[in-house]
Amino acid sequence: MRTKIVAGNWKMNKTSAEGAALIAGIRKELGDGKLPVEVVVCPPFTGLDAAAKALAGSKIGLGAQNMHFEAPGAFTGEVCAEMLKALCVQYVILGHSERRTFFGETDAIVNRKTKMALAAGLTPIVCVGETLAEREANKTEKVVTTQVRDSLAGLGADLAKVVVAYEPVWAIGTGKTASPAQAQEVHALIRRVLAVISDGQTATGIRIQYGGSMKPENAKELMSQPDIDGGLIGGAALKADAFAAIVRGAL
Ligand code: 13P
Repeated sequence: MRTKIVAGNWKMNKTSAEGAALIAGIRKELGDGKLPVEVVVCPPFTGLDAAAKALAGSKIGLGAQNMHFEAPGAFTGEVCAEMLKALCVQYVILGHSERRTFFGETDAIVNRKTKMALAAGLTPIVCVGETLAEREANKTEKVVTTQVRDSLAGLGADLAKVVVAYEPVWAIGTGKTASPAQAQEVHALIRRVLAVISDGQTATGIRIQYGGSMKPENAKELMSQPDIDGGLIGGAALKADAFAAIVRGAL
């Protein structure tokens, strides 16, 4: 049985004080007892320290939204895995479509980052997904297969520790959600590709989140699909009540 995982990607939102307040609101909604599913919040770098403090005593995990693939050194403006570890960060989103589109991240870069994150003991949440043009040109299968294969190449047994997030680019921030059937079809494809690059048992154990305009109204149906193991939430993760409602929908 895969434990579902719901993560909030705050993107470039929330000062550290605003983030701490949001976490207080989420804790109030969900309580500090055992959570029904794995829950993670991913503030921007500047909010991680305050978030770690605001999360003390809660079961909610802390994630970052990016990191560099190199060890400490002369890389102005970058942040490395060990810095995240030192702030009690446990997860890191890698290869988000906004990183791929606006900051030129390729599968090869995402692969290096994934390897570094795993070596540091972080759980990578590796994002894949096709654009609208790719979907309309019937290239979804090819694009997603290549992204999964190349971003997750050469991980060996560590592949089992990765979380994959399927985020169709056309559904991100647009209010257009993939239908449960559309999402399930690609999630099943991703699991088949994972089986090809590892083995059936490993692929069966890997969590695959859906992301793209997930909200309380559609979360439950999406996450009840057989291969949808949680959500990566953008806009709706910025409000404590909406995020908590999505977490409850994962049950
Ligand atoms: P929205 O939920 O705002 O569509 O964003 C999804 C996303 O990109 C999460 O990483």
